[in-house]
Parts: sequence; C-alpha cells; structure tokens
Amino acid sequence: SPFRSGVPSFSQISDPAAPNQPFVIGVTGGTASGKTTVCDMIIQQLHDHRIVLVNQDSFYRGLTSEELERVQEYNFDHPDAFDTEQLLHCIDTLKSGQPYQIPIYDFKTHQRKSDAFRQVNACDVIILEGILVFHDSRVRDLMNMKIFVDTDADVRLARRIRRDTVERGRDVDSVLEQYANFVKPAFDDFVLPSKKYADVIIPRGGDNHVAVDLIVQHIHTKLGQHDLCKIYPNLFVIQSTFQI
Ligand code: ADP
Ligand code: C5P
Repeated sequence: SPFRSGVPSFSQISDPAAPNQPFVIGVTGGTASGKTTVCDMIIQQLHDHRIVLVNQDSFYRGLTSEELERVQEYNFDHPDAFDTEQLLHCIDTLKSGQPYQIPIYDFKTHQRKSDAFRQVNACDVIILEGILVFHDSRVRDLMNMKIFVDTDADVRLARRIRRDTVERGRDVDSVLEQYANFVKPAFDDFVLPSKKYADVIIPRGGDNHVAVDLIVQHIHTKLGQHDLCKIYPNLFVIQSTFQI
C-alpha cells in the first residue's frame, strides 16, 4: 500500500505480566538437550537481577510402593507424572511476591525428600525449565518468553546415557530400554509438538553462545521496560517505528 512506507506505527508493551510481577521465561526441549546448561548461562549473564530457577523435575510425583515395584514400566515422560497443580501454585505464589518451598526430588529413589525443601524468595525473573513446561496451556500462559532448546537426538541420548549412569544410579541397559519405551515416544508425542509455542529456538543448546547472548540482550530490554513501569505505573511506553 502506498500509505505503509514511512508512516509511523505505534505499539504498546503487550507483555502479559503486570509491571510489578516477575518476568517469566519458559525453557523446554528434549531430555539432555542442554536446558539446564542454557538456564545457567542466562542466569550468569543476568547477575544484576534476582533470578529464581524452577525445575519442573522438582514437581515429579513420588512413586507409590506398587509403582516402585514395577518402576521399569513407569512412564516418567508423560504429563501425568508431574503434579502440575502444585507447579502452577508455585509460579502463582512467586508471581505474587511470596516465597515458596520447592520440593527436592531424588532420581535414584523416585521420591521427594520428605523433610527438605528449597526455599525460593521474591524475584525479578523466574526461569521455568523442563521437558513438558509448554504442554499445559495454563503453565504456558504464565510465560513472557518461551525458549525451545533444540539438540539432535543422538547427542541427547549419548549425554543421557552418561548422565544417568554417572549421576542417577542407572545401568546402560535400563537407560536404553527406558529411552526406547518411553522417552523417545513421549518426545514425539508431547515435547516436539510443543515447539510451535516457542518464541525462540536455540540449535545446539549451550554450545550456541550467540543465541544465548541475543536472548540475554532481549531480557535486559524487557526488564528495563518492566523497571520503568514499576517506577511509573501509569506510564504507557509508546514505541514509534517507521516501516520502510
Ligand atoms: P537438560 O537440562 O536438558 O537435561 P543439561 O543441561 O542438564 O540438559 O545437560 C545434560 C547433560 O549433558 C549434562 O551432563 C551436561 O553436563 C551435558 N551437556 C550439556 N550441554 C553440553 C554441551 N554443550 N557439551 C557437552 N556436554 C553438555
Ligand atoms: O533433566 P531431564 O530433562 O533429562 O529430565 C527429564 C527426564 O528424567 C525424563 O526424560 C525422564 O525419563 C527422566 N526421569 C527418570 N527417573 C525419574 C524421573 C525422571 O529417568 N525418577
């Protein structure tokens, strides 16, 4: 249209978060894709803000004794394996500026610690990380920015074998069996389809320093706008752009 060129258009900040609430970043991707690594890199670069990392793994339901007896048949990659109501309560509580006691999950016993929690306090930024954090629309809707960490499946499986045998008390055969029976099918059914909700897709996970730098720059910009709105709650920031 002849009217588009050079005509200024105006857009207001349209983030779902109210100015006095923390900025929520969701980070998902397949198992061992580098989600935690990417989160750690973002947290290191945002050192001048109060950041809380919430792992979806902390909200795994503890197994009953019957489930424990047949743990090889348990699907830890299905959405029902998580207590999503409790996760929602956690994020809601943190968004309202209250502290929260996050459960501590033990991958060796498949149980939560009964007597210990991780206390997290009010913050400027919440990073919510996990294989299925984009699955439930109620959790997704709490996020201001959604990141998908995209790493090849063979790289992820190799990392998972090493991690689960070294850190999670598994043997190679059980890791491979679980991967074929549950992890891979659930990735195809639940994780990969949730990629469409991502604002940003990071190829190669933590190896991709350029992507992490760009994301951190964007978060800085958004937090600056948040800070402005905190100081001047009635201020409408109007961005003027000229389309060429
Ligand atoms: P996720 O949180 O997606 O499960 P992690 O960040 O915990 O993934 O990484 C899984 C495993 O792979 C860990 O043992 C980690 O040390 C290793 N890892 C992650 N990123 C890299 C990388 N870029 N190069 C080598 N090893 C990595
Ligand atoms: O850290 P990561 O994203 O890989 O953690 C999720 C994975 O942990 C899932 O793929 C699930 O199979 C695995 N898991 C497990 N044993 C548990 C709980 C989760 O192997 N008790």
